[in-house]
Amino acid sequence: MSYQYLTIEERNRTALVTINRPDVLNALNTGVIAEIDAVFTEILGNSNYKGVILTGAGQKSFVAGADISELAALTEPTAVVLSKRGQAVFAKIENFPKPVVAAVNGFALGGGCELAMACHLRIASENAKFGQPEVNLGIIAGYGGTQRLTRLIGKTKALELLLTTDMITAAQAQGLGLVNAVVPIDQLIETALAMLQKCYKKSPRALANTITAVNACHETGVNGYEVEATLFGNCCHYSDFKEGTTAFLEKRAAQFQDI
Ligand code: COA
Repeated sequence: MSYQYLTIEERNRTALVTINRPDVLNALNTGVIAEIDAVFTEILGNSNYKGVILTGAGQKSFVAGADISELAALTEPTAVVLSKRGQAVFAKIENFPKPVVAAVNGFALGGGCELAMACHLRIASENAKFGQPEVNLGIIAGYGGTQRLTRLIGKTKALELLLTTDMITAAQAQGLGLVNAVVPIDQLIETALAMLQKCYKKSPRALANTITAVNACHETGVNGYEVEATLFGNCCHYSDFKEGTTAFLEKRAAQFQDI
């Protein structure tokens, strides 16, 4: 499939997806959101891909937020629809059964920070900056930011960032547990690929079940321990479990099945 606002290329069994609107610092309009939805559907259907890296075009910005020229025309009902649509697409990323790494190559503001937070892992370049500046525009974070930021860094710092709109550096984001690692920008994609290569040696089924179980931790009305026990049992349905345990006992590398 071809895209207007994205590029997708294969690197070592990884889908490298680049949001490509550099003239507006890769801001998210409805077309970008629709294409992010579509590209994850495409990747899910292609067993050749074992994981995903999401990044932005250029060396200045990952994503500088929702497209403000589009936001400016919102009314109360259309804003609710836009928010729910963005939330659904970002939830699709968070619940994606293959590991997804955000390679944050510059500004991750507003919807850009929210998009990075929906990914399973975040690697930032040294020049990356994170922030939730929505209240400057008289609006609030609407793509899950009020929820995910609070869960990831705690209420105290989340409210500080959301209410003051202070931007933080990549190093500060790492200190808050918002990113997994900070590297020079020319090593960003290689670092993300190396992290994914470690995951690819594991059972894909077990990775998918781990993502689901960890996400259950943040769902209301769900007993995460029940989900964990069910998924622990579910792994035993699949040959990867037999292969993983047998390979350990036979002192050889396991050969797991793609899903
Ligand atoms: N939506 C639409 N256009 C955006 C944008 C956004 N979120 N962020 C940047 N742009 C556009 C700018 O309007 C500018 O367009 P122009 O060249 O036609 O004037 C271009 O991208 C470059 O941005 P500019 O502001 O000139 O770069 P800068 O280096 O001076 O500042 C930022 C960078 C990220 C600090 C600044 O662009 C900014 O504050 N962006 C908005 C961030 C935001 O509020 N996001 C949350 C939205 S809910």
